[in-house]
Amino acid sequence: METRITQLLGIRYPILQGAMAWITGWEIASAVSNAGGLGTIASATMEPDQLVDGIRRTRASTHAPFAVNIPIRLPSSEAAVEVAIAEKVPIVVLAAGDPMTYAAKLRRAGILVLQVLFSLEMADRSREAGVDAVIAMGVEAGGNLGPDELSTLVLVPQVVRRTGLPVVAAGGICDAQGFVAALALGAEGIQMGTRILATRECTVHPNYQDALIRAGDVDTTVTGRSTGLEFRVMKNGLAKKILTMEKDGRSREDIDALAIGGLRKAAVDGDVDMGSVMMGQVSGMISDVVPVAELFDKIMRDSSARLREMVKYVEP
Ligand SMILES: Cc1cc2nc3c(=O)[nH]c(=O)nc-3n(C[C@H](O)[C@H](O)[C@H](O)COP(=O)(O)O)c2cc1C
Repeated sequence: METRITQLLGIRYPILQGAMAWITGWEIASAVSNAGGLGTIASATMEPDQLVDGIRRTRASTHAPFAVNIPIRLPSSEAAVEVAIAEKVPIVVLAAGDPMTYAAKLRRAGILVLQVLFSLEMADRSREAGVDAVIAMGVEAGGNLGPDELSTLVLVPQVVRRTGLPVVAAGGICDAQGFVAALALGAEGIQMGTRILATRECTVHPNYQDALIRAGDVDTTVTGRSTGLEFRVMKNGLAKKILTMEKDGRSREDIDALAIGGLRKAAVDGDVDMGSVMMGQVSGMISDVVPVAELFDKIMRDSSARLREMVKYVEP
């Protein structure tokens, strides 16, 4: 399948693996790239030497393109940008911050730049910064959310119209139905995070995968609305405690003291009650752990079947 996203990134399927801090290193990134999608290393919690190692191991495990994700606002971003340039990574996905900070520098170094965004204001800023493509992420997604909580269904078509850039839809997509819906909205690719957590090659703690598989339709919630640091997470002991503190008007410092380090606790140590189990609403739709290649092949296969069925509605 060809879209502007596959052409731009040099990948077989227009499927991007969302970066997930503490979770997506070279193992899953290379598996995704080998399966025809775009694998992404999350740099957020890595020291520069760990990132260099991750990039080199990815290169040793795949000949296909891969990306490094850099959350702009984090203190680690400057060093990650330097590493990406020095290691000549083909693609950088910028997130959580102003694309103006690094986009021009990365592009001058010959690196393709994608920006994750949540609003049209960020879409305008991304276009001004000269990024090559954007990832429009709706409120269904797991992890850090935009403060205005636009849904993928509403955000994607507006970003398509506004920017004219190739758009990747993210948030709430885990299968062919979501993939076809994203294309219908004008997106030319999808990014998945939560679905990737439930793959064989994902190195997240098994307790995290089990919690995801067990989760139902209403088992996620959003914490941090009162502090301006919104995260979609599983409703567990930690989330309930944070929500109570927010209701009681507790300070950001108090809440941060409880929340910081939560993702590591869940994803690395396996504490799925008092750790932060970030996952999207689609966790309620996921009931198995599958190899990445199988997942992608099924999405592509089922998408053509779904499209053929849908054509019958409009062309009787
Ligand atoms: C556990 C977890 C950690 C995440 N960490 C990051 C990150 O470090 N950088 C980033 O840009 N996005 C991050 N995200 C967002 C994902 O890359 C992706 O855009 C999102 O999961 C897509 O929505 P979905 O969960 O509905 O598939 C994270 C998401 C999850 C679930």
